Amino acid sequence: MTELRFDGRVAIITGAGGGLGRSHALLLASRGAHVLVNDLGGALDGSGSSASAAQRVVDEITALGGSAAANHDSVATAEGGEAIVQAALDAFGRVDVLINNAGILRDKAFHKMDAAFIDQVIDVHLKGALYVSQPAFALMRAQGYGRIVNTSSASGLFGNFGQANYGAAKAGLAGFTRVLAIEGAEHGIKVNAIAPIALTRMTEGILGDLAAKVAPETVSPLVAYLTNEECTVNGHIYSVAGGRIARIFVAETYGVVLKENTPEAIQDQLTQIDDLDVTRLHEPTSLDSETMIIAKALSEVA
Ligand SMILES: NC(=O)c1ccc[n+]([C@@H]2O[C@H](COP(=O)([O-])OP(=O)(O)OC[C@H]3O[C@@H](n4cnc5c(N)ncnc54)[C@H](O)[C@@H]3O)[C@@H](O)[C@H]2O)c1
Repeated sequence: MTELRFDGRVAIITGAGGGLGRSHALLLASRGAHVLVNDLGGALDGSGSSASAAQRVVDEITALGGSAAANHDSVATAEGGEAIVQAALDAFGRVDVLINNAGILRDKAFHKMDAAFIDQVIDVHLKGALYVSQPAFALMRAQGYGRIVNTSSASGLFGNFGQANYGAAKAGLAGFTRVLAIEGAEHGIKVNAIAPIALTRMTEGILGDLAAKVAPETVSPLVAYLTNEECTVNGHIYSVAGGRIARIFVAETYGVVLKENTPEAIQDQLTQIDDLDVTRLHEPTSLDSETMIIAKALSEVA
């Protein structure tokens, strides 16, 4: 098998001062990428900042003979996003890969969550990914090549108690991935997402026996594939943990066209509406594709 390399490619990895981002940075750098290691260097809840987190990872990469530069801007503002992409241009002259990975946690049961908890988490995870992606995407469009990976989460795709803010942001990233995949397709840009589980400061003490099997290094090979020139998929979302990888996708049941469109008829046919018969599922690839499925279903009863 030919080694998948990144020689001459420039990768921006946000939140790469520790955890998953650091692991992605080390892997891509070991395969020839010039890496912009971005990290605000704050605490898990988003408070504080420090230049040392990103610089430590840059030092690790350069000690191993790789190429990296540090950046400490926050992803959570449009100016920060611009500054991060500009830092990659200043250091390495181009941007081929963007891994949106920066994140914080502010967990609380929804009925106790105040506006600051909502804003901070949405700002870093969701708006942050858009803010960094926008200037990077513009460069990628102009050069006709790019790879973007967004970091979603099972919390947003499947649900998790106490993470209304985080889950909403992470589900938003899945939607962002699908839209940007469509917008980038004709420009040589592929946009995919991961929903990882890994032992980092974010998950310390909550993974039980799984902790020993899910080092961040078990997630990075998928990220390296998805950000490599050889990647063939676009708009996909993968669950990844400990070397186990599975595709997560949005599908819909075959559905029902009601003869009589009343609340009672819906109550009566809910089992059929919800029927998960996999042989009849639809997997729309876009809004247009779903609209065509609806139009076809309606035409069949007309
Ligand atoms: N660890 C898991 O099991 C898991 C599961 C699902 C999703 N994720 C996601 O993976 C990503 C990485 O998380 P991790 O587990 O490695 O945790 P982590 O805390 O080690 O990494 C997140 C990094 O983002 C940085 N960061 C925070 N706010 C920032 C900002 N405004 N600008 C720039 N950098 C900022 C932090 O300083 C930190 O280094 C996050 O998006 C997280 O939500 C992790």
